Amino acid sequence: MILADLDRDSTRLWEENWHLLAHRSELAEPRDFVRFDVAGREVVVYNDGASVIAFDNRCPHRGARIFDGDFGRERFLCRYHHWSYSKGRVFVANKESLAHCPMDQLALNTLHLEWVGDFAFVSPSPAQSLEEQLAGLSPMVAAISHGIGGRWDFNRYLYEADWRIALENALEPYHVGPIHPETLNTLKLTPGENRYYGRNSVWSAPLGDERMARRLKSLGRLFDLPHQFEGYESLYLFPFTMVSSTYGYSQSVQNFFPATSPERAHFTSRLFTGRLASTVKPELVSSFMESSATMNRAVFEEDHDICKRVMLDTWSSNPPRFWSASEEKLLHFRESYRNATSAV
Ligand code: FES
Ligand SMILES: [Fe+2]
Repeated sequence: MILADLDRDSTRLWEENWHLLAHRSELAEPRDFVRFDVAGREVVVYNDGASVIAFDNRCPHRGARIFDGDFGRERFLCRYHHWSYSKGRVFVANKESLAHCPMDQLALNTLHLEWVGDFAFVSPSPAQSLEEQLAGLSPMVAAISHGIGGRWDFNRYLYEADWRIALENALEPYHVGPIHPETLNTLKLTPGENRYYGRNSVWSAPLGDERMARRLKSLGRLFDLPHQFEGYESLYLFPFTMVSSTYGYSQSVQNFFPATSPERAHFTSRLFTGRLASTVKPELVSSFMESSATMNRAVFEEDHDICKRVMLDTWSSNPPRFWSASEEKLLHFRESYRNATSAV
């Protein structure tokens, strides 16, 4: 496939689909925000004091960027001419001087935002409802979101591989032995089971290491989880997001968003803590969370390093000629990709 086609597909996938962008706990207070780069645009999810909104990160006046950081708590104030925004309203500096303008039409360029449980999904112009897109997965997604305490780690970088390469890597455990010998492979994941929900998929794999499994199971008393798989579970939410967990004690949300520079992706991984049982003090799990965060970061670095080596011009949306049974989800992804990007 040629680069222009790949870019066109990426933009279309961003615009027509719903994307998991944030957990409610990240936007609990007025002025909390999380910012993303996607395919040459920026989108911010923001608590405006009345509700949580998603908007194109540029001022409705003359387009200055509003938020710079990845996340934080900041007032919405455009530095250029000091327009601001709060509780659904744009406040214009020296309003009288714009009396000749159609002020009733003044608005932020917002995106659609909907909740599944405590996860906020965003879409610029969705081709279908979020419920349809999740194709039966929403109860599980909601239950996972309800089992989250808060954000523990935020890890973001420009990935030196196209998002399709990075995502396909995340979809197949065939590489776990050679690429993650000291990290993920220590769980000795069994082949497990793939399940498909429309364009989404779930891989559930019990641990092969009995001792490790017993140890992890015993931690269950510390948590209060509405959804738990005893093993490693990884959800793929078409097109750009993975949510993965070991025993539900933490949840890792990864976004592989397209970038405009060739062979790059905007990668963000966040690690969320599981919701603690009411009697458990957070200090009790902080070293467990710290080691999970360190382990996750190492795994993503290992993935990044191998993805850099994969030549983008070898990629196509057709199935590869040779594929391991453990690469089955990758075939499903390519089929979904073809369906979602073929002309209407
Ligand atoms: S560009 Fe933002 S106030 Fe003018
Ligand atoms: Fe990996």
